[in-house]
Amino acid sequence: MKAAVLYEPNTPLRVEEVSLDEPQDQEVLVKLVATGVCHTDLHVIKGDIPVPMPVVLGHEGAGIVEKAGPCVTTLQPGDHVVLLAVFSCGKCPNCAMGKPSLCPAFVTSLITGTLPGGGKRLHEDKQELSHFFTQAAFAEYAVVHERTAIKIRDDAPLETVGLFGCAVSTGVGAAINAAGIKAGEIIVIYGCGGVGLSAVMGAKVAGAGKIIAVDMLDRKLEMAKELGADYVINASRENPPQRVVELTGGADYAIECIGNVDVIAQALASLRFGGKCVLVGTSPPGSMLSLSPSDFVLGKTLTGCLQGSIVPSVDVPRYVDWYMEGKLPIDKLVTRSYSLDGINDAFEALEKGEAIRSMIRF
Ligand code: APR
Ligand code: ZN
Repeated sequence: MKAAVLYEPNTPLRVEEVSLDEPQDQEVLVKLVATGVCHTDLHVIKGDIPVPMPVVLGHEGAGIVEKAGPCVTTLQPGDHVVLLAVFSCGKCPNCAMGKPSLCPAFVTSLITGTLPGGGKRLHEDKQELSHFFTQAAFAEYAVVHERTAIKIRDDAPLETVGLFGCAVSTGVGAAINAAGIKAGEIIVIYGCGGVGLSAVMGAKVAGAGKIIAVDMLDRKLEMAKELGADYVINASRENPPQRVVELTGGADYAIECIGNVDVIAQALASLRFGGKCVLVGTSPPGSMLSLSPSDFVLGKTLTGCLQGSIVPSVDVPRYVDWYMEGKLPIDKLVTRSYSLDGINDAFEALEKGEAIRSMIRF
């Protein structure tokens, strides 16, 4: 089968023939239909997230189960599935307490590039290839653990639902689960890429009173308005915290979907006393925050979340229902699509800010 392989940071991905082992134990073989191109993959290409190379990236895949390993109990051939970015074991204390997005198994798999069952199933000649985020979905097929694959309804388009594996769940979940926004409350969202725009949609579904979106590109802000933002702020022309306070007196929640320490400070400064700031973006390694203790005396909270603190088996099918009902119009995020051979062009478009979300379609 064909896969896009990254051999070294800051080099183009190489689309080439690789081999994939049969699914073992609790693993399934998935024929991919489409995979989203996320900024986190770009962080690996740029060397900001160290993972063992060579690696097959891609962690927003969706497809159809072709084969199930001997110990699989939750899936069968023919099932339509969304693949998750964050693996959870289902057994550790965080999983047992309903917080699977904080399962440490995710970090182990990321650092080792292996599948949760141990080892790698991808090879190029005699060399083993890492599975990024337990998925490796920039390939025609993927072997994944059954807990990485969430069964969804058959009528949802597999060309787009891969976005529920990362960007959309992260943004929607950041607003609804991690911030915990309730009807009538005020939220400001910094960064209007796939993640931030999903937070805008999540806040809208939750019945936010005012949604304010911040970015530096007008076309991203236009999209934010289309998806439900009541006000937009272009950070290259205005001072975002000052404008948020003028508009609202201070937001109840701020979500940072960029990973920039200066923007995190702006997000905290946008809050009313007692407001909550949620960090979602991945900051460059070694980043440090410089904070004023007074903000915390004034009751502000600073927290963060991975994959929107979702419970995948409950939230992913629910979000897919909202999509099918028109409440989460994620099709609007998909502004481009490429074949696997065009994957380097897709990353170039992401880096230049030309695309909101691109899909690789197989
Ligand atoms: N102020 C306002 N907006 C900014 C700024 C800034 N200083 N810097 C960048 N932006 C905007 C960009 O214009 C872009 O629209 O932030 C947005 C980031 O979007 P994407 O690059 O598409 O990233 P996305 O895939 O949405 O991921 C966001 O979350 O999961 C993490 O690793 C991911 O760090 C990344 C973040
Ligand atoms: Zn992602």
